[in-house]
Amino acid sequence: MEHLIDIQSISKQNIEDIIYLAKSFKEGKQESSVKSKTLALMFCENSTRTRCSFEIAGQKLGMNIINFDDAHSSLSKGESLKDTIENLYFIGVNAVVIRHSLSGIINNVLRLVNYPIKFVNGGDGTHAHPSQALLDYYTMLEKMGTVENKKITIVGDVSHSRVAKSNIALLSKFNADIHLCAPTYLQFENFEAFNVKYHNDIKEAIEGANVVMVLRVQNERHEQEGYPESSEYKRLYEIDTDLLKKYADKNVILMHPGPANRNIEVSSELLDNRVGKTILEQAQNGVYVRMAILNTLLKGGNHAS
Ligand code: CP
Repeated sequence: MEHLIDIQSISKQNIEDIIYLAKSFKEGKQESSVKSKTLALMFCENSTRTRCSFEIAGQKLGMNIINFDDAHSSLSKGESLKDTIENLYFIGVNAVVIRHSLSGIINNVLRLVNYPIKFVNGGDGTHAHPSQALLDYYTMLEKMGTVENKKITIVGDVSHSRVAKSNIALLSKFNADIHLCAPTYLQFENFEAFNVKYHNDIKEAIEGANVVMVLRVQNERHEQEGYPESSEYKRLYEIDTDLLKKYADKNVILMHPGPANRNIEVSSELLDNRVGKTILEQAQNGVYVRMAILNTLLKGGNHAS
């Protein structure tokens, strides 16, 4: 595994190795192989969980961390991402985590950069968020042992969601029974290319579900694109305690990548009760999964100096 750009580019074995390593880090059984290597966090779009957990992951591994401030960097003077990253490599950076609003930009920059700096996609537009899918998978394995033949229902804005796309790609590799639920205007256009089932009706979608993964209603995009009010979405698709109790499996796991819109896609009451705690566990597992990603990419060394 040279880089982590999307789930499609890594093998099932790569995923299993990362999960195993993350578990070893969490249990305190694994030492860092990347002490004193340098990680740059290039977040050109806002983030709490991804940015902070990569930073803590790097610190736990004994890495040097550069919090690259794009607004005050030479990107604001028009320098390209390629030139910025090549300069960072020569300054001594071994790996970059990039978050960006443009879908596919990390694939493009990777093709242009001429030096062996490691790339991690921290979420690009509506394209991919592979470290999120890996930490979601880790959390599901902790709770259920396997995803094979488990009914996993992803609810919400699947059309704009990089989290949904990376989860579908990952869960397909492990034979999960994947269901998507969204109003027609938020459907994922290419869903026929994957082995997933589509529902408009929320009750049908979560009937017997082992996992209900709720996505954020991306209000900023919806306003631009003229979608119905979020109150209409809430009326038809909000996940609450009654809905889960009535239709989902009795041991259903509630997941959300965050940030959540309380009382829009998921009820505040559900977020704050025992069932909602898994969402915080996802964030916690993100640290160990990201330690495993960084350790895997950098353990062989990549720097000339
Ligand atoms: N899940 C996720 O990517 O959250 P942040 O935007 O806070 O990083």
